[in-house]
Order: sequence, then structure tokens, then C-alpha cells
Amino acid sequence: MNHFFSIDQLSQSEIMMLLKLAKKYKSYSPNVDKKIFGANLFFEPSTRTKMSFIVAQRKLGIDVLDFNESVSSTKKGESLYDTARTFEAIGANFLVIRHQSDRWMDELKDISIPIINAGAGKSEHPTQCLLDLLTIYDSFEQFKDLKISIVGDIKHSRVAHSNIKALQKLGADVYVSAPPGLEDDKLKTPNITVDQAVELSDVVMLLRVQSERHIGKNETKTDYLEKYGLTKLREKRMKKNAIILHPAPINRGIEIDSTLVECDRSRIFNQMENGVYVRMALMMKLLQDWGVLKHENVIEERNAIL
Ligand code: CP
Repeated sequence: MNHFFSIDQLSQSEIMMLLKLAKKYKSYSPNVDKKIFGANLFFEPSTRTKMSFIVAQRKLGIDVLDFNESVSSTKKGESLYDTARTFEAIGANFLVIRHQSDRWMDELKDISIPIINAGAGKSEHPTQCLLDLLTIYDSFEQFKDLKISIVGDIKHSRVAHSNIKALQKLGADVYVSAPPGLEDDKLKTPNITVDQAVELSDVVMLLRVQSERHIGKNETKTDYLEKYGLTKLREKRMKKNAIILHPAPINRGIEIDSTLVECDRSRIFNQMENGVYVRMALMMKLLQDWGVLKHENVIEERNAIL
């Protein structure tokens, strides 16, 4: 694997290999018998992605170089390239980057350590996609012909953009349900109503309303839940074994009725847990592909704890 910028880089079999490896890591953690430094460069807020990368890194025995953008030299005008190049120079073995630009990776072509995309503007969030896939796989053990609806702010969602590509590659039937003004006209995916979505889907994947990316109109409509979200009445019309996903953070009472966040169908907190395992699998694969880790550097530990 080259840098991990897009879910599109992975074939169907590579995705399945990573999911199976992540599943193995639920019961044991391999440990890296070598000094490896991983730098987490987050230029946008994050709780889940950043912290689950850190947990994954510590479980593997990787030393974490934590970067706090608000007190970094980016405040003196240092560019993303110079920041990345600095971490490379001081000995980071790989970088994990989240940035508000859709194409931040374009300026990092000359960085010669592996880079993982932890969120790029509105374009891609491929590690979120992997954890969503693992959560679906945990429930259904396959993807072919599953009906999956992605519901909400499609236009601003890097999660939707990564998931649509991957789920179609894996053979699922993907639908989107976007409120007026939040559609992405470039997508060919069928657009259905939320009422159709709850009735036909095996997986209802809700998206956060990304108010911070809504240029010029910051209000979230008070009737959003009733018109476009997952209400208690809509949940009752879901198929017997259908599940609910949401990448979080959640706007409770807007995308989803607050009482449904932890209902039996909800896999929202399972998604977060799975984030640790898919990120462990991805980092191990990337570091081995780049020759940073050799087979003999990996000690397989049973029941390893953080
Ligand atoms: N789902 C997700 O990316 O959450 P964070 O923004 O908290 O990392």
C-alpha cells in the first residue's frame, strides 16, 4: 500500500483482508518490538478518530507524537508541507493527518514516510469507512445485496463519499437520502426519502448535520428530525434485523431521536470500538508494506492490554 489517502485505493480483497485482520485484533494485540514513532497531525477537531488512533498506537507499542495545532508553529505561518517534513526530519515513521482541505495530500507528494488520511475536508474519511464496514460485517457477515441508506447531510460528508464507493465495490445496494440543499449533485446514487430509507434498508447510516461547513446559513432547522431524521415512529418501521449507524459526533434530537442512540438496533458505540481495531490493522499493514516493520519485529501477544 502506498500512502492511505482514499478508500478507492483498496480492492475488494484488500478491504476484506483488513476487516479480517481487525476482527483478529479484537481478541489479541500484536506488539511492535522496535522503536516506531507515529505523529498525529490534526488540524480540525476530533475526539473519536484522534483518540482511537492513539489507543491503537499504544496497543501496538508505537510511540505517539501528539501534535497540538493551536500551540504549534503553524500559528507562525508554517505550512502543512513544512510541518510534515519537520516530523519526518525528527524521526517520525508515519503521519496521521486530518485537515479541512479536500486535497491536502496534493502538497505532500515529496514526503517519504507513510501518511494516513484521518479526514480530508468534505472529500474522504477512509478509516471511518473501514470501521463502518467492520460494523456492518459484524452484523451481516457479508455485503452483497445489502440495502444501505446514507441519510442526511450528504453534500458536506466525507464519510458518505468514502462509504458510497466502498459499499458499491463490495456489492451492496446503496441509496442516499438528503434534505433539499444538502444533496451532492455529482453523485449517481439513487436519492430516496427518509421514509423509503427506513422501510427498505438493512443499514440506516445517519450523518451529522455539518453546520460548520454550511456557508452563509448556520441555523439547523427545528423540524429537521421530523422531516429528515430518525424518529421513534420511523425506527418502528425498520426491518426486523436492520441496524442504525452514525459516525458521530451526534446532534441528539436532530439527526436521531436521543432515545434511539443506544437502542438495540444502534451500533453507534460499536463503530467507535471498531475504530481502534481497523486502525491497528491499517497501521500494521502500512508499516509492513513500507518495510518499516519486518515480520520479526512483531510479537503476537494474547489479551494484551493498553
Ligand atoms: N467520526 C469522527 O470522525 O469523529 P471525530 O470527528 O470525533 O474524530
